[in-house]
Amino acid sequence: MTTSGEVLLSQYMAELRQEVDQALAEVTTYAAGCPQVLADAIRHILLAPGKRLRPMLVLMASDACGHRSNATIASACAVEMIHTYSLIHDDLPAMDDDELRRGLPTVHVVYGEANAILAGDALLAQAFEVVACCDASADQVVRCLQVLTEAAGPCQLVGGQVDDLRAENTVGNVEQLQKIHERKTGAMFRVSLRLGGIAAGATDEQIVRLDTYGRYLGLAFQIVDDLLDEQGDVEQLGKQTGKDTEHGKLTYPALMGAKESQDLAADLIRQACEQLEPFGETAESLRQLAYFVLERNN
Ligand code: IPE
Ligand code: IPE
Ligand code: MG
Ligand code: MG
Ligand code: MG
Repeated sequence: MTTSGEVLLSQYMAELRQEVDQALAEVTTYAAGCPQVLADAIRHILLAPGKRLRPMLVLMASDACGHRSNATIASACAVEMIHTYSLIHDDLPAMDDDELRRGLPTVHVVYGEANAILAGDALLAQAFEVVACCDASADQVVRCLQVLTEAAGPCQLVGGQVDDLRAENTVGNVEQLQKIHERKTGAMFRVSLRLGGIAAGATDEQIVRLDTYGRYLGLAFQIVDDLLDEQGDVEQLGKQTGKDTEHGKLTYPALMGAKESQDLAADLIRQACEQLEPFGETAESLRQLAYFVLERNN
């Protein structure tokens, strides 16, 4: 990436992040009925400085297809809300038992385990409400909800998390690990791209290409996450390091070493970008974001 390309991407990313942050703050301004402790627990983590990669992918995918609709920003909020619920639950003592997230104490540390579970439940349900109630065509809303519910469901995100936990302290192989990563992490990346395409009224061929880009990107993203757990800096990451080894997690660096894992991630990013060729200039930000994912340190 050129230096001017980097500047452009960081400006564009900052703009998108601001749009997403504002929309998330609005949807989590609750009316009476939502207990204050629940609102506080949700906002503590949802409005904390996450990278917002998934919502940015929704927006960039719509932009790559040349059109944003009301379903675009609603879907962007929804994927971030589902992702954040998955982080709250992932950090619970029953799962990865983490005390630091997005540079802050995790939700269960501040608000207790019961409220953390319930904050996750609330975010998951509300994510679907945000899409269901957005001002887009009924057909678009139904298509968005179909792909979103599938990605968050038992065969994708949740199934991947179950298998991630079951694989702790076992002798696994790359095939098994790829299946875990594709579901626990890849599904939300893929669906972010698909949602951006659906919301833009993209063609089936464009949606397939975006989806395939998301598949490669998601795999690369989780490999880099595993590498950062070994080599990253706690301050920059905003979460603890060394936890995967402590928990005996099945990871790429554990299976094939850091160098091979890094090379594999780079290869996946190249394959992701190949999918963008027919989009031309409009997909430049997606191309650059892919390299950001590869080179990130947080
Ligand atoms: C962390 O995702 C969870 C994984 C799927 C590895 P991110 O690294 O995107 O977390 P935030 O949203 O920036 O906090
Ligand atoms: C988490 O993967 C994936 C989901 C939250 C679905 P990790 O457990 O590796 O994520 P971190 O490292 O805690 O962010
Ligand atoms: Mg985990
Ligand atoms: Mg974790
Ligand atoms: Mg991790």
